[in-house]
Order: sequence, then structure tokens, then C-alpha cells
Amino acid sequence: MLFRTNPPSSHYSQSGATCGLEAAPARVRDSRLFRIPFGNGVRVNFPVIFAPMAGLSHLAFRQLVRTYLPSNAGTLLFTEMLSTRILPGEEVGLTPKTRVAPGERDLIPQLLGNDECWIAPSLRKLMTLSPAGIDINMGCPVSKVLKHNWGVALMGDIRYAEKVVRTTRRLTTLPLSVKMRTGLKDDPEYLVDFAGMLEEAGADWVTLHPRIQSQHRRGQANWEYIGRVRDAVRIPVIGNGDVQQASDIVRMLQQTGCDGVMVARAATARPWIFWQVAEQLGFGQPGGREGQRAPRTAAEEGREYQRALSFFCDRLEAGFTPAEQLPRLRLFLAWGHKWIHFGHYLSTQVNRCRDLKSARRLIDDFFDTPKPMKGRTRLQ
Ligand SMILES: Cc1cc2nc3c(=O)[nH]c(=O)nc-3n(C[C@H](O)[C@H](O)[C@H](O)COP(=O)(O)O)c2cc1C
Repeated sequence: MLFRTNPPSSHYSQSGATCGLEAAPARVRDSRLFRIPFGNGVRVNFPVIFAPMAGLSHLAFRQLVRTYLPSNAGTLLFTEMLSTRILPGEEVGLTPKTRVAPGERDLIPQLLGNDECWIAPSLRKLMTLSPAGIDINMGCPVSKVLKHNWGVALMGDIRYAEKVVRTTRRLTTLPLSVKMRTGLKDDPEYLVDFAGMLEEAGADWVTLHPRIQSQHRRGQANWEYIGRVRDAVRIPVIGNGDVQQASDIVRMLQQTGCDGVMVARAATARPWIFWQVAEQLGFGQPGGREGQRAPRTAAEEGREYQRALSFFCDRLEAGFTPAEQLPRLRLFLAWGHKWIHFGHYLSTQVNRCRDLKSARRLIDDFFDTPKPMKGRTRLQ
């Protein structure tokens, strides 16, 4: 069992035990992230974080992930990126991107923007959600975001990015984070300087997705940079990129010494990846799953995927209007199907459905013949 081996790195001291982490090595128990007092009294004691994903990190998906989180595993769940140009005029809490369930105390809304006159009213609006912290997006690589000097464009101008962080720091007392990439260019020294700037400017923690802008999500994330940044700053560094299985999370923690791992695409296929890691770390089972163990084999995972889809559809029906439901199921399947045998066929067929009800029928028929799940797939 990987987590029972001695940690090879010097990143963590040997002291400090946290409830639910008895089976974890000191390097995990002593994550710097666990020391941050988040809003709502939230304390993180589980080093796997749910990522921001546009069109995906909404209420229904978060509710699904929560069914796989043991109640004693405290972590953070991001919203999708929220435009500071739109938030001030919105009924925050009522729009599809900002709807939350009662008791979502561990939420990190992610801001997309750069200007105080938009960030300030956006932050005020977000207080209705009672967030645990606030994140600034410095990673989005798409051109319509770059042309406004948002997202990863901010990494091209270190002094301007500093101003954005200092401004946001002044406007909120909540823990503040930045989710960034390697940058516009592959320059590790600049990346380390940039991370140092974030720390100086008042960021409490950072997440690094080590790809450059032009890669979008292609090629391989360079995990070596996660370790370099972790060594260079005192604040917690969360690693992100190319996690497909629980074993990848363990590997990223071990190889990079990072303070936690953020999971995005793989959560659309195996949201129980949180449970799988929690099990290895010695947490209890998720509520309602007492006495069970996390799915492991390809067949077990295939069966669980069908159950997860069904629950996801239930939550879409409960939390979204009919017009909002199907696009969200389609996007969920557009990523998750890659890990399922014949998943492409399923995703294509669901794209042709007119409503959630017919999509659900189709999903049930598809799984009439059990479909195993792949451990890994080719990610784009
Ligand atoms: C559909 C989709 C939407 C995304 N939207 C966002 C976003 O709104 N904000 C953000 O910071 N990253 C966003 N990302 C990037 C992910 O958070 C993550 O950094 C990236 O997918 C790499 O992690 P992974 O290999 O675990 O998928 C998005 C990724 C996907 C696949």
C-alpha cells in the first residue's frame, strides 16, 4: 500500500496527526494547506481538491462528488470560473453557475477578471454564498479570455498580476488563492518568481497546472515544476494536471512534495477517486456507504459509473430547469465517456437526445450489458 511507505522527500516534518489521517505518512499529515483557517470555520484535512471546470463544477457535480467524500474528510470544492463583468449584475445563488446546496461550507468561487471596479462588487455579491475562500483565475488559456487580459494573460505581466492580487487581498479577509499555469512561455525561473510575487502580494495558497498557455490541455503536464514552486515558496502549493487514477494522486504527492492535488477531468469519470484516496489515507466511508469499500476493479468501476450517472441526472432534475439539464449531462459525458468501453457511442447518442428523460433511458439501455472502466485513457 503506497501510503504506508516512508516518505522519500524532506518536504514534511514527522510531527502532527490529524483526525482521519492515521494511515497517512507525515508528509501528507503536515500539508501546509491544513494550517489555513478557511471561512465558515472550515479546516482542510484531506489533500484532494475538486477543480474549477466551466460548465461542469456546478451544484449537481459537486453533490455527486460529495457522495464519495467521507464526512471526516475536509476539503475544498471550486465553482467554475465566474466572470467579474457578469457577477455584479446577477442574482448570485440563483444562476446555474452560482447555485449552491444548503451546507456547502467548503466552496471556493473562482473569479475571472482583473479590474478593481468589477472585482469589488463581485466579491460583495459572492458573500451571499458564504464561501470558504476566493480564487483568482490565472490559468484560462482561451483567446476570448486573453483578449481582456484575464486568465493566463495575467501571467504575462508580473507587475499587473501583482496589482490584481494586492487589490483582491485588500478587498477580502477570506483565504485567497490563485490558480495558475506554467505561464505564456516555458520559463521555470519566471514561474518561480511569479509564485514568489503571489506570496508577497498576499495569496494564501496557489494551485499550479504546469502547462503553458498554447498547450491548453494537450501534451503532458510538467510535474517537476510543481516541486520547484513548492520548494521556492512558504505558502501551500497544490499540484494539478493529468491525474487519471488514485495512484496518480499518490505519485504526485510523493514526486513533487505538493500540499494537495487538484482533480478535474478524471472526476467526470471516476468521482469516487476521492473515496479511493480517502480509503488509503485511513478516513472512514462516505455517509450511507458504511461497511463498503471504494470500487476498484474495471467491472466495479463500470457499475459505479452507471450509478453515478443516475445520481447526477437526479441532481440535474432537482437543481436545474429542463433547458439547463441536457447541456450539463452532455458535457459531463463528453469528458467522462473516454474512460468507459464504448463510451464514445454513449456520448454521441446522448448528444442526439432532446431531453433528459430520453437520455436517461438511453443510458439505462447502454448499461444493460455491463461496461468495464478503463484505468487510463488518452486525454486531450
Ligand atoms: C471542461 C473544462 C473546463 C475548465 N474550466 C476551468 C475553469 O473554469 N477555471 C480553471 O481554472 N480551470 C478550468 N479548467 C482546467 C482544470 O481545472 C484543470 O486545470 C485541467 O483540466 C488540468 O487538470 P486535469 O488533468 O485533472 O483535468 C477546465 C478544464 C476542463 C476540462
